[in-house]
Amino acid sequence: MTLRLDFSNMFTAAEDAPGTVGRALVPGDWSAAAAAFGAAFDAVARAHAAGTLGFLDLPGDTALAAQTTTFAASTRGRFGDVVVLGIGGSALGPIALRTALRPSGWNALSETTRAGWPRLHVLDNVDPETIDALLGRLDLARTLFVVTSKSGGTAETMAQFLIARERVRAAVGSGVDSHAHFVFVTDPEKGALRALARSHGVPALDVPANVGGRFSVLTPVGMLPAALIGIDIGAILAGAGAMVRRCDSRDPGRNPAGAFATLQWLADTLAGKHVQVLMPYADSLRDFAAWFVQLWAESLGKARPDGRHVGPTPLAALGATDQHSQVQLFMEGPADKTITFLAVGERTTDVEIPRAPEPIPELNYLGGHTLGELIGIEQRATAGALGRRGRPNMTLHVPRVDAGAIGELIMLLELATAYAGSLYGVNAFDQPGVELGKQFAYAMLGREDASAARAEWERLPAPDARWSV
Ligand code: PA5
Repeated sequence: MTLRLDFSNMFTAAEDAPGTVGRALVPGDWSAAAAAFGAAFDAVARAHAAGTLGFLDLPGDTALAAQTTTFAASTRGRFGDVVVLGIGGSALGPIALRTALRPSGWNALSETTRAGWPRLHVLDNVDPETIDALLGRLDLARTLFVVTSKSGGTAETMAQFLIARERVRAAVGSGVDSHAHFVFVTDPEKGALRALARSHGVPALDVPANVGGRFSVLTPVGMLPAALIGIDIGAILAGAGAMVRRCDSRDPGRNPAGAFATLQWLADTLAGKHVQVLMPYADSLRDFAAWFVQLWAESLGKARPDGRHVGPTPLAALGATDQHSQVQLFMEGPADKTITFLAVGERTTDVEIPRAPEPIPELNYLGGHTLGELIGIEQRATAGALGRRGRPNMTLHVPRVDAGAIGELIMLLELATAYAGSLYGVNAFDQPGVELGKQFAYAMLGREDASAARAEWERLPAPDARWSV
């Protein structure tokens, strides 16, 4: 069983729907896009052959996977808690994997229920209240910190590391090597973290030079935290490898990543569907949607060389919860969205809804169904209702949320992002737009090499008292 993308509802004829829903995509748009997708497919293949798209090689990189499994095995039984320090692409993958592939409420389960695997915390921000609270309640003598930074110098992650190291030193005492509580995940050669690993003998796992942050979940960035809490990373990588092979076609109708990228690009550029929602109908995939949001946003939101600003706005939603929140907007608000549902087939558990013993006719229809049926039916009902109102949507059917399926999903969306970058005419692998804000922050923090940014910061107009209330 494998993933299946059903996109019949992307061609929702506007004339079927009451009200104005803007331009609809029609099957002719899809057929006409075959050549554009073929060119994108070729561009991605050329970049891969040139060695720049390392994420495609990760499923077959057994040496890199062995780095992870060997290190993880060496820690077994030593730590009750694992804390990932990282941000952006260094944090969203581990969070998504924990939520998808470990039982619900993992960190609250007893050690016995966790079969001795540690809890996993991911500190993906520098909010002092969160960090102080977590470090204050952990037994630091039994905690492993996974410091993850591809560049090896991100301010937020390095600040977290410096704090955690001090706290560990204070907790374990000066006679003990506090670095035994750390492992780094970083570039094989460059950056401050790699230099620290060398000078202090801290174990360090590699993020290959040709894999960028948001494409790195299949490197030790995602695989190490996953392996440390008992997730079968071999199955994730196998699923990802199967998806690479499945996407080896210039025909978007035979290439799931190609179909997803082409449809979203067409919907945005021809039909004004600038907001692209990913809406899993499973709590286990809630954080996967957040991972996708970063991948799609940071990769595609770009200034093109010709000066045009492009990129769809991704949005995460959760079914059925957001049927009582965002779906009203999706149904009747601006006709500027596509919705991609993640529909789960089989679940590890189902719960039957009992028949109410009281004579309440309004509740009779629920009794005897299961919650699995209810959530599945609600997904289909929402997809149908959106389609009926001319709101384009597609459904990625996930047979069950297991390691193989998650590997397939990761690779499908990463590859789709690479194709979409080519369709939009942007570099999907850089993020120049975040640089100026970083430089201003360095300037305010007094970093020595930020004098140019300091001068620019000081030239900004002061806040105008008239525009404040
Ligand atoms: O996708 C990206 O490249 C970014 O979101 C990075 O993951 C993020 O900025 C963190 O960078 P680093 O891993 O170098 O600390």
